[in-house]
Formats: sequence, C-alpha cells, structure tokens
Amino acid sequence: MENKVTEALQLDKFPQEYLEYFNKEGELVRKSIHGKVLDIGCGNARLLPFIHDKCSSYIGLDNDKEAIINNNLLKKKFSNVDFIQGDARDLKKLFSKEKFDVSVCLWNTLHILGDETLMLKNISEVTNDKIIITLVAKNSQSLKARAKYYDLFKIPYTIDNNSQIIYSKIWGESRAYSGDYFKILSEKSGIPLIESGKIGFMAIYGIFDCSRK
Ligand SMILES: C[S@@+](CC[C@H](N)C(=O)[O-])C[C@H]1O[C@@H](n2cnc3c(N)ncnc32)[C@H](O)[C@@H]1O
Repeated sequence: MENKVTEALQLDKFPQEYLEYFNKEGELVRKSIHGKVLDIGCGNARLLPFIHDKCSSYIGLDNDKEAIINNNLLKKKFSNVDFIQGDARDLKKLFSKEKFDVSVCLWNTLHILGDETLMLKNISEVTNDKIIITLVAKNSQSLKARAKYYDLFKIPYTIDNNSQIIYSKIWGESRAYSGDYFKILSEKSGIPLIESGKIGFMAIYGIFDCSRK
C-alpha cells in the first residue's frame, strides 16, 4: 500500500460521517456475529472492537502485507484473533479444512475481488451460517462524502456521475450500488438473502443464509 493510503486508513483521520457510518455498521454486524468469524479484505480490522466479545475466533484476511503487520499488533489486545496475508480469490484453497460460522466482506471489498456472484458463492463454501456484505450506496450524499474523503488526502480521482463510480490510480474503482442490488446478487448466486437495507446514506447491507446448503 502506498503511504497516502495507509494514512487515509487511520481511524482518527476519517471524516466524521465515515466514523458515524463505521459505528452503525459495527452495531449492525455485531447482531449477527457468533462462533468463528472470517473478515475478508479486513483492511485495518476496524470491525474487531465491535465483535471480539461475541465470537469464539476471528481471522482477518487481506493481501496487503503492511496491513497484516500492523494488525498483528492487535493480537496483544484481543485474544482468539489471527491475521492471514493471502488472496481472497483463493478462499477455497486457503481454508480447505476450515469453515466459519459468519463471514463478512465489508465496505466495497466484494467488487474488488472480481466477479461478485462467483465470489459470493466461494465465500458460501467456507461459511456455515451467514455472510454479511456492505457496499457503498448510490446517492448524491454518499458520492459527495466519498469525494471529500479523497480530497482530504489529496488523492487524484475522476468521477462518473452517471454511475457514481470514483476512479483513482491508488484506490482503483469505487463503485456505488442501489438498494435492490443484494436481491439481484441472491438470485444470480442462488444464495438466499435473509435481510437487506441501508446503513444511513453511506451504504447498503445484505445478510445471506448459508445454513440451507
Ligand atoms: C475498501 S478496503 C475495505 C477494508 C475493510 N474491509 C473495511 O471495511 O475497512 C478493501 C480491502 O481489501 C483488500 N484486498 C484487495 N484485494 C484483495 C485480495 N485479492 N485478497 C485479499 N484482500 C484484498 C485491500 O488490501 C483492502 O484492505
């Protein structure tokens, strides 16, 4: 990760509307957490404080070496926590002998990993109960907040106003999704959707059911 990105991921550097979103998302995810948890594309593991007391174990997976080195320091603070540097597109290989009760893939990580339907199916193969996904919501307030965040760290970007996608060399493509997206993803993947909705104006969430496989 380039330095600008590392700086931009420090929790005390985020704009207020992002911190509010993280709190709301953390509380929402917490309600469904139990047993063994996998956080796919965990980043700085910002979810951990919200859920550590509700899970028997937590594994954070990210392909970014620096993020994993930093996160490993959290092992002193939280028990039953581990971090793995690896490519989430190889989930089935990485966890061929292990399954999780709840897998989460938060804050626009799913689309970075390639075909979203295929990725959801792959996650379901390593998950016994629930998958929780959050994605950036498509609306003008969310687009404004994202642009402000890029501006804050002087990260150059362009915007496709129609589809509300922000492009930057450093962060790649940050897409935005409308409310019915999780229904479509459920139909395409065949994985039942338990619940979906909004998290303020910033994001949408979907909770998928893997227990009926
Ligand atoms: C948008 S950030 C979200 C981070 C975190 N989930 C959060 O909500 O704060 C996407 C994360 O996915 C990680 N990532 C990108 N491609 C990956 C891959 N192929 N395998 C594992 N992690 C990946 C990035 O390093 C980054 O930490």
